[in-house]
Amino acid sequence: MKYSRIAGTGRCLPQKVVTNAELAKSVDTSDEWIRERTGISQRHIAGDDETTLTLCEGAALQAMEAAGVGPGDIDLILVGTTTPDQVFPNMGVLLQHRLGIRTACPSFGLEAACTGFLYALSLADKFIRLGDAKRALVVGAETLSRMIDWQDRTTCVLFGDGAGAVILETADEPGIISTHLHADGQYKDLLYHPWGVSQGADKLVPGHDAVRMKGNEVFKVAVMTLGRIVDETLAANNLEKADIDWLIPHQANIRIIEATARKLGMPMERVVVTVGEHGNTSAASVPMALDVAVRDGRIKRGDMLLLEAFGGGFTWGSALIRY
Ligand code: UT7
Repeated sequence: MKYSRIAGTGRCLPQKVVTNAELAKSVDTSDEWIRERTGISQRHIAGDDETTLTLCEGAALQAMEAAGVGPGDIDLILVGTTTPDQVFPNMGVLLQHRLGIRTACPSFGLEAACTGFLYALSLADKFIRLGDAKRALVVGAETLSRMIDWQDRTTCVLFGDGAGAVILETADEPGIISTHLHADGQYKDLLYHPWGVSQGADKLVPGHDAVRMKGNEVFKVAVMTLGRIVDETLAANNLEKADIDWLIPHQANIRIIEATARKLGMPMERVVVTVGEHGNTSAASVPMALDVAVRDGRIKRGDMLLLEAFGGGFTWGSALIRY
């Protein structure tokens, strides 16, 4: 039986930082409101020379260096993103080219909104378990700032850009212990982007080209659903809450994160929180938070990690990992 393990992590954030106070100059909001309701103080926003692909490249290079692997060692590329540079070639292929990976390995992008990284991680783990890949580059990346209505205070204060990456490799012992993925399309109108190429360019009119969200309804379902997936993950592995060393949650709102931590009976010191500095970076949020806590030394080899995410669709998922 083969397993996969995380061999290295990386992240890349745009240079430009936008604080709450700066946003308050252009929309009717305040630093106090944003901090109190979301925990966000600032977010990184892609500049003219930065795209989802350049952020993917930065995160991937860091993860490859941490894992001690080069372009010739990677035989699978998966990029979870809702904001690709092009419709096609897909983001996996564009990243393959950028990194000079000439192994002709399968490479693809995958869209599951904020759960995109966990969907990609789960798939890569299955490729490795089945023996179809030995070493996978898995990225969650987003430039959601490019599809935000910067006049809509209910969304523009929430999101940021970035990319996080991991190298998954074959192992004798389980690193990725289990993954759990779900979706429920009945909630498709609570958090969505209304336009796609198939609708035709004439439908791309102002007001029809930005993320829309019924925030407090999303909030309620997110808290309930993430509580359930924590239970599901523990039960599937016969684990107790106390067996988890670190919770690495999707970074949408500190109040949602705290509710999930309470459900797990975890003190906030055991929860990796980056929402204050990164905002909600959608598919990038979980792998970036993982990388932050690996690089600052909090997460150590052997620790038991619970990753979870929730996003538009709704989609949601978790991964239990022995790091
Ligand atoms: O990543 C995918 C998953 N996404 C999420 O999980 C996001 C989930 N939702 C949330 O995080 C929260 O619902 C928000 C942070 C989006 C909003 O917080 P809330 O406590 O649910 O506020 P609300 O939407 O109920 O709005 C309360 C008030 C409203 O004013 P009235 O109607 O009470 O007068 C809003 O118009 O706050 C107002 N408001 C704002 N005020 C200042 C909404 N946005 C802002 C703002 N600044 N930026």
